[in-house]
Amino acid sequence: MYRNHTCGELRLSDAGKEVTLAGWVQRTRKMGGMTFVDLRDRYGITQLVFNEAVNAELNERANRLGREFVIQVKGTVNERSNKNKNLPTGEVEIVVSELNVLNASLTPPFTIEDDTDGGDDLRMKYRYLDIRRAAVRKNLELRHRMTMEVRHYLDGKGFLEIETPMLIGSTPEGARDFVVPSRMNPGQFYALPQSPQTLKQLLMVAGMDRYFQIVKCFRDEDLRADRQPEFTQIDCEMSFVEQEDIIELFEGMAKHLFKVIRGVEFTEPFQRMTWADAMKYYGSDKPDLRFGMKFVELMDILKGYGFGVFDNAAYIGGICAEGAATYTRKQLDALTEYVKKPQIGAKGMVYARVEADGNVKSSVDKFYSQEVLQKMKEAFGARPGDLILILSGDDVMKTRKQLCELRLKVAEELGLRDKNKFACLWVVDFPMFEWSEEEGRLMAMHHPFTHPKDEDVPLLDTNPEAVRADAYDMVINGIEVGGGSIRIHDQALQAKMFEILGFTPERAQAQFGFLMNAFKFGAPPHGGLAYGLDRWVSIFAGLDSIRDCIAFPKNNSGRDVMLDAPAPLDQSQLDELQLALDLKEK
Ligand code: AMO
Repeated sequence: MYRNHTCGELRLSDAGKEVTLAGWVQRTRKMGGMTFVDLRDRYGITQLVFNEAVNAELNERANRLGREFVIQVKGTVNERSNKNKNLPTGEVEIVVSELNVLNASLTPPFTIEDDTDGGDDLRMKYRYLDIRRAAVRKNLELRHRMTMEVRHYLDGKGFLEIETPMLIGSTPEGARDFVVPSRMNPGQFYALPQSPQTLKQLLMVAGMDRYFQIVKCFRDEDLRADRQPEFTQIDCEMSFVEQEDIIELFEGMAKHLFKVIRGVEFTEPFQRMTWADAMKYYGSDKPDLRFGMKFVELMDILKGYGFGVFDNAAYIGGICAEGAATYTRKQLDALTEYVKKPQIGAKGMVYARVEADGNVKSSVDKFYSQEVLQKMKEAFGARPGDLILILSGDDVMKTRKQLCELRLKVAEELGLRDKNKFACLWVVDFPMFEWSEEEGRLMAMHHPFTHPKDEDVPLLDTNPEAVRADAYDMVINGIEVGGGSIRIHDQALQAKMFEILGFTPERAQAQFGFLMNAFKFGAPPHGGLAYGLDRWVSIFAGLDSIRDCIAFPKNNSGRDVMLDAPAPLDQSQLDELQLALDLKEK
């Protein structure tokens, strides 16, 4: 037997036991004639002790152990004189009688402890060493518990877990596909699924009624902290349901996960907000509601006093930061610089402080009387000590998005984005379409299979941009953790949708014929949703990036630095696939 206990297990009540442990040497310390070794495995750390006076040869061997050597020891559990309150095993140590080195190790490229000296790239290159650190390991353990809990919950609700293929056809709608060449079909390509959307709908036509899958999805898009090129969805679909049925079931699952994984109990229904309100009041379809600072529109109050910037603006809006009138000129200048960065694109920022006597002092005082400024103060419900920040612009949506960035930045600075506080929200009534400047046509905001709201169907012919969809997203702390919709199950309506999206009937048939044909064979009304597992785990673990809860993630350039992928293919592989490269110079 390599071991009969783990390194996280032994307690004072085990004192006197003869035990065998195996694990990695985290560190060795020599103190006089004694040598102490911290032995680590997945379960914890146990202190080993060697005594020169008792066994000089054994002590000498312990001294030669390097970091990350794999060893096995036999010894006796002993009460420690110098107890470590920070370790669950901190009351005991093992007095070692036998030491076997199972494998030596090179000196690791970074310290494998909670506070590591390893930078991001180094840790990713040696991810198998990084995962030995408790901080990373805990995230993977949490991920495991989440998936077990999800399976248990959905099984209890009658869902079947069904696998769908990873090699499917390319559907250019949505993000870019990752493609895979087919050797047996030269010149033809599979695509990896961006999601199993159409396949789960076919499972509904097949009568499977309640489907789920914890499934890898692939999207070739630009990466951010909450985006990986391959990520995992908890993908679900149900038949004979309306939006309300789906929201109820998956809100139930969300609450269950919060309770069993985080110990947080929600007794009230999650808040709901229409997409239109989310944009109007927060400038985002995923508002962070852990704090207020709801937008107030000021066009009626501030236009017409000779301040050109405002007089000519299509939109003037602001936020009120409670108690932030203490912001110094330097801090305000820094905020102005922040919103003027090219990624945000505001032209400038106006600020106003509410002073102790209730008077308002603004950066544009020369244009506005105290009377007008007081009106503005009332519009915000601002009180002495508050700070009002205002942006304006020619494009309403763009300016709202800039104000959204400002709101998030100020909240960050004021410490309002508390990772242990959770604001859950359903955003509903998304528009069916959005105009794409790049493509010069309407695109589906969710996807082309989403059902328009019944009352908006007549608008499909007259004013498609005003059509709202039976689509919903769940948002937690400003992060979209899931989304779904009621689907079209009528072949004629689906064909119309493709037409509005600019598909010729031939192209629609070529790309989505399999689905439209299936709809001719008795498709039930259906709908569903997918949660982003990586985002859920990172919110529960309080992580800044989903990378930290993925065993082997990609970096920001989409590379796996450990496997050194992607990489060129050998000429022989290209030949076999009958592929020739025509690389353009960068
Ligand atoms: P959607 O595209 O909204 O919907 O994806 C569902 C959820 O998956 C997560 N997600 C991601 N997580 C990490 N990295 C990414 N690149 C990434 N992209 C998306 C988000 C998102 O809310 N088929 C539909 C679902 C449906 O309608 O049932 C779909 O894929 O948390």
